[in-house]
Amino acid sequence: MKIVIVTGASSGIGAEFVRQLDQSFSRIDEIWMIARNVKKMEEIASSLKNKTRIIGLDLEKNEQRTELQSLIEKENPNICMLVNCAGFGLMGDFEQLSMEEQLNMVELNCKALTAVTYMAIPYMTRNGRIIQLASAAAFVPQAHFAVYAASKSYVLSFSRALQEELLPKEIYITAVCPGPVNTPFFDRAETNGQTLALKKNFSVSPEWVVKDALLASKKRKTVTVCSVPMKLFRVLCKVIPHSWILEIVENFDRG
Ligand SMILES: NC(=O)c1ccc[n+]([C@@H]2O[C@H](COP(=O)([O-])OP(=O)(O)OC[C@H]3O[C@@H](n4cnc5c(N)ncnc54)[C@H](OP(=O)(O)O)[C@@H]3O)[C@@H](O)[C@H]2O)c1
Repeated sequence: MKIVIVTGASSGIGAEFVRQLDQSFSRIDEIWMIARNVKKMEEIASSLKNKTRIIGLDLEKNEQRTELQSLIEKENPNICMLVNCAGFGLMGDFEQLSMEEQLNMVELNCKALTAVTYMAIPYMTRNGRIIQLASAAAFVPQAHFAVYAASKSYVLSFSRALQEELLPKEIYITAVCPGPVNTPFFDRAETNGQTLALKKNFSVSPEWVVKDALLASKKRKTVTVCSVPMKLFRVLCKVIPHSWILEIVENFDRG
């Protein structure tokens, strides 16, 4: 059985991956959609041409991740593509935000992504693809978004290193690093703090991010940064000391 797995498939970028993959893949048996909200995934699946398998799982919970492992072992599929989109962010001061929620962020953004990647690789063959949702937040530490930015730096670093290990198997990983994307992400992220208004001016659509990511994956690019302003931001983060960037952003935020 040839399959594609998308985590975070109930909303935003993950849901858009499902839609665009449905259009571009005609010779797969199933798209496995993973998230907690089963109803939303069923609605999305109802308009697709490929067969889907809706898998309602809370990936923050280790025992539920084990259920996915068992399912993969039972079905023994050929995974042609894995897209890890499940993730969330929380803005606000580290001390003010709940410890439990911030640890859950690390659990989902880092541990679950790592676990699902680990589970999938043995079932991937030559030309298999992995797409990991990192973020432009991975390029530099971010005050008031500290744990999220750190979690995305992990995703970027992990993906780039793993690409080297997987080259002999001809499995290709793309870390996707967009700036702000117009999705429900901010409904939760801004519960306790606001993103810089300036940042929102650079928002792009999930359609754009996914189109760019799939093209980058096809071209075997290890990292993709979807828009020109974020490409520029990445270059700045490479040449300007991070302490300066932190200070400039903090002053801008206060002023
Ligand atoms: N939007 C942005 O500005 C932006 C920018 C850069 C990177 N990203 C990254 O892109 C990815 C997708 O974000 P998005 O913008 O599409 O946000 P979104 O619309 O809020 O989607 C997040 C997805 O993650 C799933 N999810 C959350 N908690 C989960 C859990 N415990 N178990 C399983 N699934 C869970 C959600 O489904 P359920 O609630 O149904 O579980 C949903 O499908 C994230 O990794 C995010 O960090 C977003």
